[in-house]
Amino acid sequence: MRPSSALVLAFAASTLAQDQIPLVDKVKGWFAQATAAVTSAVPAAASSPVASGRAKVAETIQHPLTLENWKETLTVDPSASTPTTQEWLVYITGGNATCFGFCGNATKAWNASLPFLAAKPNAPKFAVIDCDAEPLLCNSWSVGPPSLYYFQIPKPLADQSAPAATVRYQPLNRTSTTVDTFKKLVLDNDFEKVEPYEGYFHPFNGELQQYGLALPLAYVMWGFSKMPSWLPMILISFMSRTFM
Ligand SMILES: *[C@@H]1O[C@H](CO)[C@@H](O)[C@H](O)[C@H]1NC(C)=O
Ligand SMILES: *[C@@H]1O[C@H](CO)[C@@H](O)[C@H](O)[C@H]1NC(C)=O
Ligand SMILES: *[C@@H]1O[C@H](CO)[C@@H](O)[C@H](O)[C@H]1NC(C)=O
Ligand SMILES: *[C@@H]1O[C@H](CO)[C@@H](O)[C@H](O)[C@H]1NC(C)=O
Repeated sequence: MRPSSALVLAFAASTLAQDQIPLVDKVKGWFAQATAAVTSAVPAAASSPVASGRAKVAETIQHPLTLENWKETLTVDPSASTPTTQEWLVYITGGNATCFGFCGNATKAWNASLPFLAAKPNAPKFAVIDCDAEPLLCNSWSVGPPSLYYFQIPKPLADQSAPAATVRYQPLNRTSTTVDTFKKLVLDNDFEKVEPYEGYFHPFNGELQQYGLALPLAYVMWGFSKMPSWLPMILISFMSRTFM
């Protein structure tokens, strides 16, 4: 049996059978196997059944975010009993335009990690943003691929006032991000060591969101990224000629 199909079977079997090994340790064990499977499966093309099966899993677990849907998506399950916090992990990826084609390996590792992260006790919910498709959303949050955004969103209180959401932003290395990176951040709680982000671009509480400026500013930044690189030079030379 191929190591990766053995892994899938082992994964399925161990989610069913609850034995005495704590689930966290078990999940960590799966990660070790997943790391091995990913490394050994690298030469296999993306069209191999295992890779496409993995993409399938990723597709069913994670919610794709867009400029239109992110506010409705990143919420707390209304049926949860009150003082509760919903955790969301948002993976930010991109293609040739925003990641220069370098996000493939990190995204592969993220896809491979997803089933294991989802098996963790009190698992967070998962979402993904493709900055190539959603440049305005990425600009309005001021994030770039590949990276991981960790949200702790409290349920609104009975009087509808919502306690502030805690967000932590972790840029990922394009070359050295592996399944192990996600294991450390999520299972070993390395994310708790990341300073919560409190700045202007905070998706929920940032000044730019509160005053409705995040989106206009995102358009401006997006416009600059579309501008040919020689244009600012010409503009500056015009301006300096006008002022001299
Ligand atoms: C990761 O999973 C998504 C489905 O959510 C899929 O579209 C994408 O092609 C996968 N990427 C890689 C590199 O496996
Ligand atoms: C990204 O760029 C590579 C190399 O330039 C090309 O082969 C590939 O088709 C491009 N992908 C997309 C989605 O444009
Ligand atoms: C992705 O991984 C492959 C195989 O390990 C490697 O050859 C390639 O350079 C990596 N790509 C990037 C962008 O790091
Ligand atoms: C990413 O990882 C590579 C290899 O480990 C390292 O050489 C590079 O400096 C890292 N880049 C950043 C931005 O940390």
